Amino acid sequence: MNDASAHHNDGQALRAAAARALLPVIDAQGSLSALDDSAVLPRDRALFRALCYGVCRSLPRLEALAGELLRSPFKTRDRDVQALLLVGIYQLLYMRIPAHAAVGETAGAARLLGKAWATRVLNGCLRRLQREQSALQAKVDRDPCVALLHPAWLLKALRQAWPDDWREIAIANNAPGPMTLRINRRRVSREVYRERLLESGLESRICEFAPDGLTLETPCDVNALPGFADGEVSVQDEAAQLAVELLGPALAPRPGARVLDACCAPGGKTAHLLEAFDVDLTALDSDAQRLTRVTDTLDRLGLTARVERGDATQLEGWETDRFDAVLLDAPCSGSGVIRRHPDIKRLRRAEDIPALATLQGQLLDRLWQLLVPGGTLLYATCSIFPEENADQIKAFLARTPDARATTPADLAWGRPAGDGRQLLPREAGHDGFFYARLEKARA
Ligand SMILES: C[S@@+](CC[C@H](N)C(=O)[O-])C[C@H]1O[C@@H](n2cnc3c(N)ncnc32)[C@H](O)[C@@H]1O
Repeated sequence: MNDASAHHNDGQALRAAAARALLPVIDAQGSLSALDDSAVLPRDRALFRALCYGVCRSLPRLEALAGELLRSPFKTRDRDVQALLLVGIYQLLYMRIPAHAAVGETAGAARLLGKAWATRVLNGCLRRLQREQSALQAKVDRDPCVALLHPAWLLKALRQAWPDDWREIAIANNAPGPMTLRINRRRVSREVYRERLLESGLESRICEFAPDGLTLETPCDVNALPGFADGEVSVQDEAAQLAVELLGPALAPRPGARVLDACCAPGGKTAHLLEAFDVDLTALDSDAQRLTRVTDTLDRLGLTARVERGDATQLEGWETDRFDAVLLDAPCSGSGVIRRHPDIKRLRRAEDIPALATLQGQLLDRLWQLLVPGGTLLYATCSIFPEENADQIKAFLARTPDARATTPADLAWGRPAGDGRQLLPREAGHDGFFYARLEKARA
């Protein structure tokens, strides 16, 4: 085989692998976090990920165009060919891959799915898209769900929650989030680390709100970050870094304070708390697999915590008045981080929101009992829905007489939302997030 045809085969293999990997996500049966790139050559893995994330981000438009291009939909058993068609459409619309390669290698990949018959269909569809792209796109984009790349329920929920901002939110959700770093302040200052990045050819800007944060101008592999293996730096969005700012007044003056990070995995905030404060930290999560990531992260950063598995709505036998502070970074819809997890648009359903709100309420109630009088609980979500945020805290305060909100009113970031603070996702800036700080009355 000569070089050109080997390259051709690799290109087909990459596209077939993307179609296979995407199928469960398209069918709302699996998540992008489980992407398996083992069949893809190491040098093609970045492109593979870009393809899978990109297709997922733009599914409504790709599917609407596929509907226009096909005379009749593929049979259920040929959903992999449908996925391949979406991969092809995505390349023509969004990627700087020469069109002949995008069409030829996508159509050729049908053979690798064991469906050589589909090569002609795919070739025909993709060539037609090349010829008629503007007219077809204008036609499908008349539907706002297609133009804004969001399912109808989600657009409706955004519109209801943020009548003045929903369009900007949807647009921000569609742009990949920037890569933001958290500098380990125990090891190195942000200024010095920024210089080191520059020496490695990586430009960054100082985060507007998070004192340990630097945002890279161009994302890179973590292993290209100087000092990553030695624990000098971690990847964490700017909004997520603000938990430490809000807990500062409770923890900074009290070395040895007992802290519970109740939903800790994969450990981003656990590690940040330990970098910032000398505290005695218990890191709890119900998911054993995710907890292994917490211990890996703590090992890499040279930090120590008591890592425990448990359901924070139960915690039988845990005595009350046990912790000076609790961080509840609650399981949520993830509606503030759609740009990082575009599969949320396919996997979430409207009916998930009340179920999540119920779980969050149970977590709040149980964890409150563990707090000492005078202690602080920081409630956080990466959601932008009031049901999980301001409404949740309002209901909690109404049923909890010894709780009062102490979320500062004069923060430089976000906007007031009931008794908490809401950050909306910002293009090239932070994710969507919510925080509410609560204090337990002294006995
Ligand atoms: C938003 S994530 C936490 C992110 C983490 N705090 C960080 O900064 O890296 C929510 C976590 O809650 C955990 N979780 C969900 N239900 C739980 C429960 N009942 N008890 C304890 N943890 C739970 C999930 O396994 C998940 O790891």
